[in-house]
Amino acid sequence: MTSTQHNIESVNQLINPDNIIESINQLAKAFQGKVVFSTSFSWEDQIIAHTIFKHHIDVAVFTLDTGRLFAETYATWSRTLELYQQKITAYYPDANQLQDFIVNKGPNSFYESIENRKQCCYIRKVAPLQRALKDKAIWITGIRAAHSNGRSDMPLLEYDQANDIIKYHPLLHWTTEEVITFINQNNIPYNPLHDNGFISIGCMPCTRAVSAGEDFRAGRWWWEDNSKKECGLHVHRANEQ
Ligand code: ADX
Ligand code: SF4
Repeated sequence: MTSTQHNIESVNQLINPDNIIESINQLAKAFQGKVVFSTSFSWEDQIIAHTIFKHHIDVAVFTLDTGRLFAETYATWSRTLELYQQKITAYYPDANQLQDFIVNKGPNSFYESIENRKQCCYIRKVAPLQRALKDKAIWITGIRAAHSNGRSDMPLLEYDQANDIIKYHPLLHWTTEEVITFINQNNIPYNPLHDNGFISIGCMPCTRAVSAGEDFRAGRWWWEDNSKKECGLHVHRANEQ
């Protein structure tokens, strides 16, 4: 057994797949100061943020502000701060890198090529993410298996080699109905775009609503080939580019 498998095995002992409060709590205690949660203010992320904030669990919550998010996403961010009165750290793109990219290629060059799109995602998301995860042990995300085919076979816990961290996806096996019911029953503020056909929400210029029956992530980078549709935040073995 490699040390990574060994680590995942021991972290697995702390997880109760039927109880996310207990699981996150156990992780926070076992890896004090080293557990982080990334939020994009999606309804999945709002459930996890609610769990952490309501139960005062020692997990640092952060978001990657790309500068191109929807007005509704910023509004959800503000409502979350008002309601829970707890800290959400925001990470930003490096100003010089972003300036060079925009000056050389223009503000919307991501529509012109996959290379430009990946460069934009790298500068605005991936590099800030690397800073957010530095020296941490556990990264909690709101990924669900139902989001896309590429995510359907993900494990609850996985090792992310690029960031040398163990990822935990507490809502991996939740259905959309379960997510909506939990949000409603607990009066959790959520992004109003979810009521208008937006299921997976990223940056405004790169996200559109989806119609009934379409893949949940069909509205992300919709002009690109399906196999390219990850921004580099989540490089899962099944969809590695
Ligand atoms: S992405 O890779 O396509 O952009 P997706 O929108 O499905 O990711 O979100 C999956 C998870 O990635 C979220 O639940 C959240 O944990 C994290 N995430 C995505 N975008 C951001 C962001 N801008 N800031 C922080 N975390 C994010
Ligand atoms: Fe840039 Fe679009 Fe990626 Fe956002 S999703 S970082 S705007 S390419």
